[in-house]
Amino acid sequence: MNQTKLLFAGADEYLATFVEAARTLPEIELLPYEPGLDLKGIEYLLMWRPVPGLAAALPDLKALFCFGAGVERLLANPELPPHVPIVRMVEPGLTQVMSEYILWQTLRHHRRIWELEEAQEAGRWAPHWYPAAWDLPVGILGLGELGQAAAQKLLTFDFPVRGWSRSRKNLAGVKSFAGAAELPDFLSGLEILICLLPLTPETTGILHAGHFAHLARGASLINAGRGLHLVEADLQPALATGQLVAASLDVFSQEPLPPEHPFWRHPRIFMTPHNASDINPASGLREISRQIGRHRAGLPLEHVVDRQRGY
Ligand code: NAP
Ligand code: GLV
Repeated sequence: MNQTKLLFAGADEYLATFVEAARTLPEIELLPYEPGLDLKGIEYLLMWRPVPGLAAALPDLKALFCFGAGVERLLANPELPPHVPIVRMVEPGLTQVMSEYILWQTLRHHRRIWELEEAQEAGRWAPHWYPAAWDLPVGILGLGELGQAAAQKLLTFDFPVRGWSRSRKNLAGVKSFAGAAELPDFLSGLEILICLLPLTPETTGILHAGHFAHLARGASLINAGRGLHLVEADLQPALATGQLVAASLDVFSQEPLPPEHPFWRHPRIFMTPHNASDINPASGLREISRQIGRHRAGLPLEHVVDRQRGY
């Protein structure tokens, strides 16, 4: 069989599982990147954190697959050859796990789990009342691959779902808001605000006090987009005044979050270390192989990043 070389410069901790997954795909020869490797004849690259000089040093490079859905780090790298398409990661494993994270955190906020944890800590028997899911409007910033899948999950639990994107969407059960002009209406009265946006100049700092003020008093925030979507200095004041009641954060302006950061010790901030979702090695590699098959057959690649738009 004619094998296609795919150079692996993804996250190191994934290498072994990718090597394993590649065994089931005889059409792919997965080459772990190491300095000194012969780069001639390598047409496809899978990369996460840009390896300095690597993309430019591949004379036969035809496409760069981003290891994740968010491409801001790759786009910030001036060394990427402008003619090489960048494909962001869209694959069922990554999407499934993100929608589970969003559902998990939404239910956590719906059931105000922190009140139960505080009561347990104090040895206090304190049953509390929950509103019905259908009375808790949830809004998703970013109605792309991940936002739409999360919306579907939330709808099956009867949350009223709104979504905000650049272009208007027509999705059964989801109230669509489009563009900056409709952002205040989208935010108005939301009980749970979820961020699944890409990081671009337009979306940086979008989670700020001015926008929190549009939400219902005592709303919750879930940020699984990027750390820089949140104006971190605005979060604790919003929690202190009760405008926000709690937050779930998976991403931070600085990662790893330094041990002295006050978020670690805030009782109403639940944190995960930027692993709300990740590529699934088996389904991710199958998807890359499918895309390479299309490309070799002369068909256009899917999910190519628009470098001007930034996602
Ligand atoms: P996507 O399919 O490209 O969707 C992006 C969505 O954001 C689209 O609906 C887009 O609107 C909307 N959008 C972008 N800029 C906007 C703007 N200025 N105003 C309004 N809407 C805007 O991306 P995805 O695959 O869903 O991934 C989204 C992001 O999730 C990634 O970029 C990454 O930052 C984050 N992520 C995080 C993790 C994690 O573990 N925490 C894992 C994976 C991804 P249009 O549809 O109109 O273009
Ligand atoms: C992870 O953060 C991703 O962008 O896939």
